[in-house]
Amino acid sequence: MLDDVVRVVVSERQIEARVAAMADEIAFFYADNQEGITIITILTGSLVFLADLIRRLPIRMRVGLVTVSSYAGKTTESCGALFESAILPDLCNRDVLIVDDILDTGGTLRLVRDRLQTGSPRSIRTAVMLRKKEKAPADLPVEFVGFDIEDEFVVGYGLDYDGLYRNLPYIGVLKSELYATESMT
Ligand code: XMP
Repeated sequence: MLDDVVRVVVSERQIEARVAAMADEIAFFYADNQEGITIITILTGSLVFLADLIRRLPIRMRVGLVTVSSYAGKTTESCGALFESAILPDLCNRDVLIVDDILDTGGTLRLVRDRLQTGSPRSIRTAVMLRKKEKAPADLPVEFVGFDIEDEFVVGYGLDYDGLYRNLPYIGVLKSELYATESMT
């Protein structure tokens, strides 16, 4: 499996250091929140980031989950985000922090933000591990960003291609021959 990766974009050590720094930023930001924040994570890609991040956050929190689909099977082209399911705690008057793996076109985050707004939270803020800066829309606020990366399809640290590679401890690019041509998907 490791042979499938042609280039490491963010190493395990870089991730570890940055997640710790992000957790400090987030804990500082919510220092005055006594009742606890509500983290909503977007499955499945954010699982690994979520697990690492929350164990470094020494603040009260509840965790909820939403599922959104945008990439199906062997494709690197998003088909547009579709809301699938949610396991949500009460959001009314809560400070919500959305935790997501990667901000690409912003369709997924926009969909989730709009959905969460219907629960009347006090605030909604967002933390993403990766941002494709060239593509991320300027009108979508993201308060906490792990790394800005180039516009290329990456896997690892929760991110998959055709369901695989989520368990890689780093973020990398696959050999080009492993990606199916989009006409085959
Ligand atoms: P949008 O375009 O809605 O995309 O911001 C966000 C979601 O799309 C997936 N995504 C990727 N998954 N490698 C992946 O494995 C990538 O390079 C990539 N770019 C986007 C991801 O599920 C993310 O939540």
